Amino acid sequence: MDHFRYKDHSLYCEGVAVHTIAEAVGTPCYIYSTNTLREHYTRLQDAFRELDPLICYSVKCCSNVAVLSLLASLGAGMDVVSGGELFRATKAGVPPERIVYAGVGKSDREIEGALRAKIGLFNVESEMEFENLARIARTLGVRTRAALRVNPDVDPKTHRYTTTGKRESKFGVDLERAVAFFSTYGADPHIALTGIHLHIGSPVYTTDPYLESVRKALALIDDLARRGFPIDTLDLGGGFGADYESDQSPLAADYASAIVPLLRDRVRSGLRIVLEPGRTIAANAGILLTRVEYVKQSGDRRFAICDAGMNALLRPSHYGAFHFVWPTEPAAGMAPQRRSRELILPGLVRTEVVGPLCETGDFIAEDRLLPPVQRGDLLAVFTAGAYGMAMASRYNSHPLPAEVLVNGETHRTIRSRESYEDLVRHETA
Ligand code: LLP
Repeated sequence: MDHFRYKDHSLYCEGVAVHTIAEAVGTPCYIYSTNTLREHYTRLQDAFRELDPLICYSVKCCSNVAVLSLLASLGAGMDVVSGGELFRATKAGVPPERIVYAGVGKSDREIEGALRAKIGLFNVESEMEFENLARIARTLGVRTRAALRVNPDVDPKTHRYTTTGKRESKFGVDLERAVAFFSTYGADPHIALTGIHLHIGSPVYTTDPYLESVRKALALIDDLARRGFPIDTLDLGGGFGADYESDQSPLAADYASAIVPLLRDRVRSGLRIVLEPGRTIAANAGILLTRVEYVKQSGDRRFAICDAGMNALLRPSHYGAFHFVWPTEPAAGMAPQRRSRELILPGLVRTEVVGPLCETGDFIAEDRLLPPVQRGDLLAVFTAGAYGMAMASRYNSHPLPAEVLVNGETHRTIRSRESYEDLVRHETA
């Protein structure tokens, strides 16, 4: 699952005790494990090897340039959704032909930048966007490749905020409009429209929604071929799960053993597969480390008030997401054998793990059984590598957390903690 383990009642990331990182860089901070990132990427690559896919890591989930560089060095391409993410991917040395660009609201400036950078594929989300892309490509006198993002109307059975492939979502074009889309735009002189893109939601904990959407996409691809629109690329998007609790998610091999049989023959006949995994690579590769500032009782509830809240990790308050939380130096017998909301050990205390912000919705974990915590204790918030720092804010003028990358026995700061000066750097009094 990952390289965060308790040894001698102390939490380690690979070979480094995380409390030493807190002493060196302070809290809150995100800590990532190089070897977890590497293993998750290579596991996915191995599982899908038969399809030889282009694996485009989804930059949005954890976008630190050091993380991108590491994955790029393993051969990953990148899935970007903004000019800012394209800038990061380019800085990390990702070859432009390995970059795919989705997003419902690409601005003219962003499109122009991506065309000039010569990225590999635009994932187009509407008729109006296609026309705009074609117009800008014509003005620049360049040619590019595009895939149509179709909306397969499949339920990924996840949070409604991260359900993207159902009919009523803002993403992609309804499947029934796809043929008309190709009839109208399929012969554009500046855009080779030869791909189909899907992304049904995130996280998707069963394989059925993938099977259903891939089957629909293949039927569409056959229909398009009959009509004279050959498709050479099928981008399946992302959405594979992560272990917020131990063994919660199917393995890369489980997803692959369901999906690969549908695509094996197609790949042999020349179809190129793209994957856009984010969470399954980064989530378990990172923790958020926070220090307990105060402990207090309010009515029947005991609060551990920490130096990180929804500003540092938005997922619990925004999606009601579960993150396993545990002290980094638990008392003897209190090291967790599993990460589970059902973990029962003698002496646990119902605790509300909350942040310092002036909002009642500012929490990391609600009504959680934890070893008794004291002022000054460090808590690890697990499975925070994806959509953690990437969604962090400066609300209440708390500077953004630091980010640290561990590799074996060593660690280095890959984003330093912001200062108060940083908070006002772009403001004018
Ligand atoms: N491709 C596209 C087009 C996407 O929109 C996304 C995620 C991905 C790939 C990567 O999905 P992943 O493999 O990471 O599941 N903030 C939410 C998740 C939002 C996902 C947005 N799109 C969360 O914290 O759960």
